[in-house]
Amino acid sequence: MTTALRSPRLRRLLILGGVVALTLILSACGGDDLPQNTLSPRSERARNIDGLFKLTLVIAAVIFVAVQGAILVSVWKFRSKKGEGDKPVKQIHGNTKLEIAWTIAPAIILAGIAVPTVQTIFDNAEARENPINVTVVGHQWWWEYQYTDYLREDGSPLITANELHIPVDREIALTLIADDGDVIHSFWIPNLTGKRDVVPGHVNTLNMSADETGEFYGQCAEFCGLSHANMRLRGIVQTQQEFDAWLAGQLADPNLPAVGEESLRADGWELFITKGCAACHQINGTDAIGGGTNPGPDLTHVASRGTFAGALYDFNTDNLSRWLADPSELKPMEPDLNRGMPNLGLTNDEITALVAFLEGLT
Ligand code: CUA
Repeated sequence: MTTALRSPRLRRLLILGGVVALTLILSACGGDDLPQNTLSPRSERARNIDGLFKLTLVIAAVIFVAVQGAILVSVWKFRSKKGEGDKPVKQIHGNTKLEIAWTIAPAIILAGIAVPTVQTIFDNAEARENPINVTVVGHQWWWEYQYTDYLREDGSPLITANELHIPVDREIALTLIADDGDVIHSFWIPNLTGKRDVVPGHVNTLNMSADETGEFYGQCAEFCGLSHANMRLRGIVQTQQEFDAWLAGQLADPNLPAVGEESLRADGWELFITKGCAACHQINGTDAIGGGTNPGPDLTHVASRGTFAGALYDFNTDNLSRWLADPSELKPMEPDLNRGMPNLGLTNDEITALVAFLEGLT
């Protein structure tokens, strides 16, 4: 070991430097491929936001280097030198010119940043032509989407949950609402657009679009209680053709067991009505009208979704069975307070039948 490394202070400094460098390097991992990333914009509005962020970052970096540089130069230049001993340093108090300068300079910088910021806010708020209108309803703790341009046979809008399907290169006009008695949520798909609060008793709007097909992850961005972190969503961007096929599927009648059918899924359908599922969950065109004080997702075509429970779990037999056995085990909820799905105390046979029924709702 060299003499220098034997100094404990220097060793500590080297370790600290190594940790800082490693943190910076590791936090830069992942790049553009992360599924929920505001730094890899996939739409015009997301690019506007990204551009504004980068501009602000550059300005902040220049200021950081200038201020830290000045501090380092001062520390070096005015350090105590050999032979000066305990000689008192020159005492200074106040400098009007400097104080005016460092009040005005930040004010000018902030005013400068405000110009592109306000411009971006207006650009992003501007509605484009020919939008698809979707009403987004925030619930504790899942998302409901009402496609008010596309009506079912009974005249009600197409309704789905958690996974928002949109065609590529098309303006989407979102209307954001929450039920009275619910709390504030915030809708956010970072790759596609900015975030906006979803407030009970208030109507907000948010516009978005997507440049490319794919699945983009989103997340409720306003603390909304126990399962806020589990209130996820997916933006599923499809070609116009795929979107049209999806629409047709969603607007079709639900795939129910035939009257008098003897099968596992027919048993499941009966349980769905008798066990109380139908009081909270809708299956369009049936006695399962859902709604109530603790509404759950519309399940008309639930098997067409890739995920469930606030886009938290993949839609498969194993996860559905575990969910029905004890929903709050998979996602903490408060059903006693009308927030989330209760444990219905189902037997294993009942769960098997219900899962078979749900998996048939394509
Ligand atoms: Cu909804 Cu956080």
